[in-house]
Amino acid sequence: MNKIKVSVPGKLMLFGEHAVVYNRPCIVTAVNQRMTVTAELTAQNTLTIQAPDVSIANLTIDYDANEADLPKGARFIFSAVKNFCNQTDWKSGLIISTHSEFSNEFGFGSSSAVTVGVVKALSELSGANLDNHALFKIAYQSVLDVQKVGSGFDLAAAIWGGTLYFVTGGKEIKPLLNNLSLVVGYTGIKANTVAMIQQVASAHHTALQKIDQIFDKIEQIVTLAKTELIQGNWLKLGALMNENQAVLAALGVNTPVLKNLISAALSSGALGAKLSGAGGGDCMIALATAETASAVAAGIEAAGGKVLSVSLNAAGVRIEE
Ligand code: PMV
Repeated sequence: MNKIKVSVPGKLMLFGEHAVVYNRPCIVTAVNQRMTVTAELTAQNTLTIQAPDVSIANLTIDYDANEADLPKGARFIFSAVKNFCNQTDWKSGLIISTHSEFSNEFGFGSSSAVTVGVVKALSELSGANLDNHALFKIAYQSVLDVQKVGSGFDLAAAIWGGTLYFVTGGKEIKPLLNNLSLVVGYTGIKANTVAMIQQVASAHHTALQKIDQIFDKIEQIVTLAKTELIQGNWLKLGALMNENQAVLAALGVNTPVLKNLISAALSSGALGAKLSGAGGGDCMIALATAETASAVAAGIEAAGGKVLSVSLNAAGVRIEE
């Protein structure tokens, strides 16, 4: 085999963002919009990247290049290739092409999806055939090398798929069977995840006790949400979404646009609504019943949001060709 194509799901954080960076759990689900990564072996000792979604047409890189000098869209790919080669003691010239069904503006995890796609593709091409935990370890190291911070929850969703109970760095990764469906509203603003993590870190630094109490509260919400999600107690789950949103607002990561879309969803009949991910922009999620879903979607659109059509519990990384 000298060429392979894999596909990887995007993700949405359901509960527990930010606290999961501080040794606490979260709940994340994989969405049915996917990223494809094609990897082909070549005789050259270089890496060529074709990633039109991030404006990289045909970039050829030497393996001894400095990652920080590369365009942003190439860094995760380069880091994933280097980490895979180092960890498995394997090397080859490569052409890697990516294509995404979702915009990298949504916060669906395009960087984590591409990282997982590269590691999985190389794992198959090289014959290493790594299991999910070994894929996670290499992918997580690759992301930390590029962005220095992050819990790795998005990588786990990309690898395992479905919905997961996840603890920082993959200390616990447990599938949660459920049939949740959500209305997803995009704010039109791309969030800067790393900047939001840093903002919370500096708040934590200046008010340790207060922020730790917020994280403890989030942990309690995640623990309760896990049970209600599995049991399909939507009323209770909706109430927990609202509670999680209130503490995220107290953490300082809410924005007027998110707040507006969340209130619109609730006043259109949603059982609960919250931001999803780092905050500062990206998407909000609302829990509605089959009867109220279209009114909730209309309410979000009327408030200026863009409703994205996604289903949850999508399959994890898989080989396509
Ligand atoms: O912005 P997103 O959707 O990648 O979510 C970030 C979630 C955080 O908990 C803030 C960071 C992390 O790595 O867990």
